[in-house]
Amino acid sequence: MPIQLGDVVPDFTQDSTEGPLHFYDWVGDSWVVLFSHPKDFTPVCTTELGAVAKLKPEFDKRGVKVIGLSVDPTDSHAGWAKDIEETQGAKLNFPLIADHDRKVANLYGMIHPNASDTMTVRSVFVIDPAKKLRLTLTYPAATGRNFDELLRTIDSLQLTDRFKVSTPVNWKHGEDVIILPSVSNEQAKELFPSGWVEHKPYLRTTKQPNA
Ligand code: BEZ
Repeated sequence: MPIQLGDVVPDFTQDSTEGPLHFYDWVGDSWVVLFSHPKDFTPVCTTELGAVAKLKPEFDKRGVKVIGLSVDPTDSHAGWAKDIEETQGAKLNFPLIADHDRKVANLYGMIHPNASDTMTVRSVFVIDPAKKLRLTLTYPAATGRNFDELLRTIDSLQLTDRFKVSTPVNWKHGEDVIILPSVSNEQAKELFPSGWVEHKPYLRTTKQPNA
């Protein structure tokens, strides 16, 4: 049974570039992005890990820890980290799980046998501080992910957890948001004192709270 949105994600211990890692202890009370890579020393993965290292301050700002995974051992990861720094101009600044026995990959359903029975697909799991799965993305091996999109979705998750709003298509931080249809106009006057535009009774947009 695949892990589904809202499920508490499974705990594990596994080797990593930062030593043996007990996942729940490492997570603490942070948000987490766990993302898998098909294999060490592969080109798309090399660019992705460099990009995430450069974006680390953006994840930090949002209280999100990032952790990668590839189904190779730690000595292989150590050699690959040197290549990442050399070719991408960014040092690996987060742990990379060495999932040599595919324990975590199998636990999280990162291997899709009809795509490859040995390599993981490019899975992304966004996990909240209650250790619940809040968002997943699955890309094939040949297609690199867009980590700006991942930051955008985290902005939406964190905003919609705090306020009675949802975010429209292609929304970015700072843009107008949608008032939840369950909020009456009476309640909306209190919650959104700057007002709103009523396009339809079920579609009311307002300035992003706390922008
Ligand atoms: C890559 O990272 O470039 C890659 C990895 C596995 C299969 C295909 C591409």
